[in-house]
Amino acid sequence: MQALLQYNWASVTRLTLIISLATTLLPALVSATDLSSEPITPIASISNLNQAKVQLGKALFHDPRLSSNNSISCASCHDLSGGGADKVSLSFGVNGTKGLTNTPTVYNSALNIAQFWDGRAADLHEQVDGPVQNPLEMNTHWPEIINKLNRDQALKQQFETLYPEGLNANNIRASIVEFERSLATLNAPFDQWLLGNEAALTDKQKQGYRLFKSYGCVSCHQGANVGGNMYAYFGAVHNIMEYFELRSTPPSEADLGRYSVTKNPLDRFLFKVPSLRMASLTAPYFHDGAVPDLNTAIIIMGRFQLGREIPKEHVSAISAFISSLAGEHPELAE
Ligand code: HEC
Ligand code: HEC
Repeated sequence: MQALLQYNWASVTRLTLIISLATTLLPALVSATDLSSEPITPIASISNLNQAKVQLGKALFHDPRLSSNNSISCASCHDLSGGGADKVSLSFGVNGTKGLTNTPTVYNSALNIAQFWDGRAADLHEQVDGPVQNPLEMNTHWPEIINKLNRDQALKQQFETLYPEGLNANNIRASIVEFERSLATLNAPFDQWLLGNEAALTDKQKQGYRLFKSYGCVSCHQGANVGGNMYAYFGAVHNIMEYFELRSTPPSEADLGRYSVTKNPLDRFLFKVPSLRMASLTAPYFHDGAVPDLNTAIIIMGRFQLGREIPKEHVSAISAFISSLAGEHPELAE
């Protein structure tokens, strides 16, 4: 399976996390699950954030001046109170134009190996230009944005205080990235359980996790973000054309995944494995947003990624487990 790259469970991050937890949470660790043998690790809090830059980035994330007609902001599609995505299959950009792929969550996106379904942006910094310049999204360009924002004396002043070069495209990107880095969801019931709190999960969720491992979902959805750390074919073991038949529309360019970036025929239908951390809150599913509910997404994964028909009770347990992966963040609605 040439596509199943980069198994990096035993990452340095986890080691650091274990060490820092060992000093603060020693009593809890005595009864804790052995973290080193689990394919999923807790999300660690981000320590070196510059709060003033986070606040500036947060304001820009919500600023419609980043779009050509001042009508939409990053938050229009990435609703932070609702899981970091929106509720539609394909989002609407300026002038109501429809996008080509489903909006993924921005929560925990700093943990991904690359950004976008096809990984075409190497990191969050590079990612920002995507929506800003995409004609189907914000449809603008940096000189136009800088021109608008330069008329806002208070904002200009804020940039000058925080960055030696003041207001420019690079610093807009940098502050948005600082804000995105702050979007780590902590204390998920599943993470609490990993750290030794048996009562944090229901029996059904624990059963769901066992099934998630025994079916082999963890071979792709793993690490702190339960995904986001490797690429895999959609249709790893089952003809993907059958998926398009179920969807009742033929495959389009947006379905080709990483091929769009590399033009390598072997990369057709290869996607960055999405994080499942916020999946219980971000229906509809898959890169095309064609699947409306989590249970159906699980059944499709069983069939196309593992060659298994997962029975209903197992689907329901796996779904309960996936709900336990969503952690807390002040921006999330209670
Ligand atoms: C019109 C809706 C829309 C707007 C506005 C928008 N996004 Fe997105 N965002 C998307 C879609 C759709 C994708 C997936 C596109 C793809 O992979 O081809 C995405 C992907 C992302 C990702 C990658 C997540 C991942 O797991 O790969 C990040 C990060 C992100 N957006 C941040 C932002 C920021 C920052 C802004 C504002 C500058 C923004 N978005 C504006 C719809 C939007
Ligand atoms: C061979 C790798 C692989 C395996 C095994 C796998 N997945 Fe996936 N999963 C993916 C990829 C790739 C996608 C993205 C597919 C797409 O949208 O084109 C995905 C998408 C998903 C999504 C949708 C996420 C979203 O935000 O749209 C869910 C839910 C999911 N997987 C759950 C599971 C479950 C449950 C299992 C086990 C029954 C599983 N996966 C097994 C690779 C895998």
